[in-house]
Amino acid sequence: MIYLDNSATTQPRPEVLESFMKVSSQFFGNPSSIHGLGMEAERLLRRAREQAADLLNVEPHEVVFTSGGTEGNNMAIKGIALEHQTRGRHIITSKVEHPSVLEACQSLERLGFEVSYLDVNGAGIIDINQLKANVREDTILVTIMHVNNEIGSIQPIKQIGAILREYPKVFFHVDYVQGFGKEPLSIKDAQIDLCTISGHKIHGLKGTGLLYVKNGIRLFALANGGGQERRLRSGTENLAGIVSLVKAMRLIQEAQKKGRDQLMERQEKLLRHLKENPAVVVNTPDQHRAPHIVNFSVPGLKPEVVIHALEEQGIMISTKSACSSKSADESAVLAACGKEPGISAAGLRVSMSYDTTTADIATFCEQLDAVITNLQQIMR
Ligand SMILES: Cc1ncc(COP(=O)(O)O)c(C=O)c1O
Repeated sequence: MIYLDNSATTQPRPEVLESFMKVSSQFFGNPSSIHGLGMEAERLLRRAREQAADLLNVEPHEVVFTSGGTEGNNMAIKGIALEHQTRGRHIITSKVEHPSVLEACQSLERLGFEVSYLDVNGAGIIDINQLKANVREDTILVTIMHVNNEIGSIQPIKQIGAILREYPKVFFHVDYVQGFGKEPLSIKDAQIDLCTISGHKIHGLKGTGLLYVKNGIRLFALANGGGQERRLRSGTENLAGIVSLVKAMRLIQEAQKKGRDQLMERQEKLLRHLKENPAVVVNTPDQHRAPHIVNFSVPGLKPEVVIHALEEQGIMISTKSACSSKSADESAVLAACGKEPGISAAGLRVSMSYDTTTADIATFCEQLDAVITNLQQIMR
């Protein structure tokens, strides 16, 4: 099998599974218990938090462990909105965010908040001037993703952070789910207030993740109870998941250091091949793109048909996020980039990991060409 759907999820690393098993079996105490087993669990939790903070270059108390990207995004957006609504009820986001951001914003609109959805250009990038023009006296939050999950475009996070410095009352949240481990971003340098990371996108386990919450920022807690995680997320901690997440974070950062150049080379190779095929339209931008995602369309061919034909050859790729589009078959992200319906309804995504080899890409290219030729012949 050639697995090229790593933006949907990744295969957990054996070391991650080992950590999970070890902590689950040997350190199963509740960190809130005051006996030895509980205290041992509490020590492990503290160490995991310190290590996660170290990897992100932030303070341990700024790390809130969550169940993943969706929870982190909701915790940040609704948490800021509900806690700070007396100061303002306006939020700024973009049209190409993940559904966990867009739908969190839409649910706040139903509560009376106002949301501005920024446009993007053909490369999927927001316009900084439009952002500036939209900041108002009652704006409390700007939430913009780092790497886009469908086309891999990278938003100018550092530039946004610098602009928002002029508006000290506006919080800045970044969905870093697709970028972490692939595209460097300094939380502190970019002056980010809240930042979401998910475990299963980095060869960790599903149901793990973290939200960075800058020191001193108050959030409305969505889950109340025992007061765990700075009272922001009550519930007995998933210690085994947390320890395994930190392991996955460390491993992906090591892989990034060693393998990012090769990943970029593989992406270049793939893009070159796709551009040579006249039946293919490449949707991933030429610049400001992450190294692991390539999005393209074969106008006239239904993406599902291409996906299943490739699957018969043992290759797994994907189409747009099913839940992020207005019409049943159009990608909202590609539509926002100004692609015509024939292209935006035909988007296909290849997403690599550091384990993807040059041979995998060569096989994919060969098989894709064959699939396109075959399907075009059938349609004639
Ligand atoms: C950019 C982005 N944000 C958030 C999420 C949600 O993450 P999770 O699956 O961990 O809830 C995803 C998952 O596809 C994503 O790609």
